Amino acid sequence: MTETPQNLSLQNVCVDYDNQHRALDGLTCSFEPGSFTALVGPSGCGKSTVLRTVAGLIAPSHGEVVGAGDNDTGYVFQEPTLLAWRNVYDNVAMPMRFAGLSASEIDQRVRHALQMVGLQERLDALPRQLSGGMKMRVSLARALANRPRLLLLDEPFAALDEMTRMRLDDDLRDIWQQAKSTVIFVTHSITEAAYLAERVLVMRDDGRLVADLSMPTRQDNNHFRTQASYHAACTTISDALGHNAHDVADSRQTQKATD
Ligand SMILES: Nc1ncnc2c1ncn2[C@@H]1O[C@H](COP(=O)(O)OP(=O)(O)O)[C@@H](O)[C@H]1O
Ligand SMILES: [Mg+2]
Repeated sequence: MTETPQNLSLQNVCVDYDNQHRALDGLTCSFEPGSFTALVGPSGCGKSTVLRTVAGLIAPSHGEVVGAGDNDTGYVFQEPTLLAWRNVYDNVAMPMRFAGLSASEIDQRVRHALQMVGLQERLDALPRQLSGGMKMRVSLARALANRPRLLLLDEPFAALDEMTRMRLDDDLRDIWQQAKSTVIFVTHSITEAAYLAERVLVMRDDGRLVADLSMPTRQDNNHFRTQASYHAACTTISDALGHNAHDVADSRQTQKATD
């Protein structure tokens, strides 16, 4: 981890794909060290492009990203992207072996990361022996083992059933509180954003940021989903998106069904 964390910030960032398609249009925002931000918006609005730009995988066409350290970023994708022929331990260890860390350092980090995601008993399992939720946990552990200052998650739980997703949401909040990374979590689910994040950034189809919302502080972690402040937060996010429904994907399906 970096000794003196600097605010990560995007300053008037535009991204044009193929020099013509504007995917991001003038994004300006900054992220405090240790904060948990959700980025919400409909499919195709540019959420993944924001993460790729922050990670330095693509360069902005205009504007700049300040304060993102190259070796200090963990990236978790929607698909767990595990090596099928390697066990859990090796999947988590692999990036650190490439980075040249010592075997003992790797061992300690792998075990700690797998403990954080609750898979310390499954070191020898192959990906095909794991459920979808477990594979996602391995993918998360692989990112955490690197001890990133910045953790970027791109719809990591979107392919999972709702109960598994809710459990992983809870675990992710616990992990964030332990690891103290700055988290940017992309989702198209309003309820997930409201549940997880301290702050929610809302994007619309045209690649613009339309709202920057503070989420309520929780009094009681265990019952947050039943609290009025949580439901009010969902409504605020829905309104910013220009929707009345709580889930963008659901509302799109509903719209299709009635077309
Ligand atoms: N590599 C690419 N080349 C050209 N267009 C792209 C590329 N990646 C994404 N796009 C386009 O940019 C827009 C934003 O994409 P993306 O960031 O993936 O959105 P989201 O993650 O919100 O679904 C979409 O219109 C998408 O088709
Ligand atoms: Mg995406």
